Amino acid sequence: MNILITGGAGFIGSHVVRRMVKNYPDYSIYNLDALTYAGNLENLNDIEEFSNYTFLKGDITDATFINSIFKKYAFDGVIHLAAESHVDRSITNPLEFVMTNVIGTVNLLNAAKGLWKDNFENKLFYHVSTDEVYGSLGESGLFTETTAYDPNSPYSASKASSDHFVRAYGETYGMPYVISNCSNNYGPNHFPEKLIPLFINNIIQKKSLPVYGDGNYTRDWLFVKDHAAAIDLVFHKGKNHETYNIGGFNEWKNIDLVKLLCKIMDTKLNRSSGESEKLITYVKDRPGHDLRYAIDASKINKELGWAPSVTFEQGLEKTIDWFLENEEWLANVTSGDYKEYYAKMYQ
Ligand code: NAD
Ligand code: TYD
Repeated sequence: MNILITGGAGFIGSHVVRRMVKNYPDYSIYNLDALTYAGNLENLNDIEEFSNYTFLKGDITDATFINSIFKKYAFDGVIHLAAESHVDRSITNPLEFVMTNVIGTVNLLNAAKGLWKDNFENKLFYHVSTDEVYGSLGESGLFTETTAYDPNSPYSASKASSDHFVRAYGETYGMPYVISNCSNNYGPNHFPEKLIPLFINNIIQKKSLPVYGDGNYTRDWLFVKDHAAAIDLVFHKGKNHETYNIGGFNEWKNIDLVKLLCKIMDTKLNRSSGESEKLITYVKDRPGHDLRYAIDASKINKELGWAPSVTFEQGLEKTIDWFLENEEWLANVTSGDYKEYYAKMYQ
């Protein structure tokens, strides 16, 4: 099988690429990535020499290029992760999110349809999406696969739109597809613009920890390697035209999570107890901030037998250790443009 993985130089994509390259030596894995600020080939140093791995630099908004690689490599399956993925950036520049997340996805669907139209057998378009398409929950309840879409941010609106296009190609043209909607990931290689890696970096640097609003927002957190395992499973065993919710059964209020992070890091960094908590600073809230996300992942658990393999405490410890052991990676991604982004966003 020739498998195209898009966005494979990013956070989740790099874990998916590594897993697929190592677990399936008979597959040819093609990683297509535009290497935006979020894409980093350093994430894949350890597998770049594998004979079943090829990196293709390119942009999913470029239809001509996308059609040409489908023709050249005759992909049998697509695992589509390339996206603009940060809510705060979507508030500043929504159009970029429409271009990559909506137009880019439709370009891929068109190219797949063009290549597979005479025979969809043993072909699959796997679209990786987010729980944010379901909008915000109150204090109780869980998102299921039948929860109505109700996106609130330009990011989630663009992902919701791309999900709809994938479904529409399934209904209209018979495109074989699966979609998964996952909760917040964390782990090694996470770009430090999202809550957990940003706060780990700031704690290391003894910089303030900017908690939005009152900090009483709730997210469900999943270790990235458990998401990669779920993606592998859904790709191989998921039912055609089905959606699977993926989550960690692991809800945390932001402020409680930040305090736990501070506590673990004080120990790891040999700092006195309570030292990092003093860095917490409440800042202006994010506009349209979703109160709570929580996933009911019982379908993937019952039908495909997937469950998270690590507890949050274990995953967080692995994550912190990785960041402490990979200072060079962190220094590289926080130099240059990152400084400008940080200054604009937080000062
Ligand atoms: P990321 O921002 O770390 O990586 C995105 C990757 O896509 C980068 O390597 C980037 O270079 C590439 N990319 C961006 N625009 C591109 C373009 N026009 N053409 C080709 N490549 C392009 O994102 P992530 O956190 O790894 O998320 C991956 C996917 O998973 C996204 O679709 C996201 O919506 C989804 N998702 C993320 C989370 C999460 O918590 N991070 C949770 C659920 C779902
Ligand atoms: P984030 O990691 O951006 O993921 P998402 O918005 O996709 O859930 O944010 C997670 C939570 O942390 C969210 O409620 C916003 C909050 N947050 C802060 O309080 N401060 C920050 O600097 C960041 C980046 C996020």
